[in-house]
Amino acid sequence: MVGLGPGDAGLLCPKALKAIEDAQVIVGYRPYVDMVQEPLKAGKTVITTGMRGELDRVGRALEQAALGLSTVVVSSGDPGVYGMAGLVLEVVEKKGLWDQVQVEVLPGIPALTAAAALLGAPLAHDFAVVSLSDLLTPWELIETRLACAAQADFVIVLYNPRSPKRHWQLGRACEIASEHRGPKTPVGLVCQAFRPGQKIGVFPLAGFDPGAADMLSIVFIGNSQTRMAKGRMFTPRGYMEKYE
Ligand SMILES: C[S@@+](CC[C@H](N)C(=O)[O-])C[C@H]1O[C@@H](n2cnc3c(N)ncnc32)[C@H](O)[C@@H]1O
Repeated sequence: MVGLGPGDAGLLCPKALKAIEDAQVIVGYRPYVDMVQEPLKAGKTVITTGMRGELDRVGRALEQAALGLSTVVVSSGDPGVYGMAGLVLEVVEKKGLWDQVQVEVLPGIPALTAAAALLGAPLAHDFAVVSLSDLLTPWELIETRLACAAQADFVIVLYNPRSPKRHWQLGRACEIASEHRGPKTPVGLVCQAFRPGQKIGVFPLAGFDPGAADMLSIVFIGNSQTRMAKGRMFTPRGYMEKYE
């Protein structure tokens, strides 16, 4: 399992690049396989599936690997962060393939650190990451996680904030945050980090428009100490207060 990073070829980790170069088979969700540069795919078997084809992808990748072919399953960002690594390991366990298939997970730069860098340093103190996708997780549990993170003053990172079918969840997440945060709390929005069309914005919580996010966005809600200045968002860790 290989993480491709956020999208810019310069942010693909060298070990991941080497694994793709050495692979005989590349498997992935179509938009992720599209992120792999064409010369890297030349002469290889490329297997793509669409949305919700996760189990099919894993099954086909394991088939290839069990034949002895060096196979990479590509994910955007890091394969273990809302990526395919967990599912591959689950299937290997379920089918008892530990001795037949050698599994390696190669990290990638996840969207949360890529986007945080574009905003400044919002994650310099404790943070919680929550996906707003309720496809596999009941919404009630997502709300509980959001409320606990907001109450505990974590910086909150929101993955999968919006899609054409999920248009109200981000607004509700902001409402939950507002129960524990002031209206001026900075909210960072990064769309298409390190890809063509990249957009970055920092807004006060009370003025944040959830409609500005889309499927390729990530949202950061600051903690009680997070500040914004000159379009940057940063969370003090406490060094200044302790050592000055
Ligand atoms: C299935 S998750 C994949 C996460 C990925 N494995 C990672 O490590 O970041 C898809 C979600 O990741 C976020 N995402 C992935 N790439 C992004 C990018 N380049 N810019 C902003 N958000 C991104 C979006 O929230 C998107 O809905």
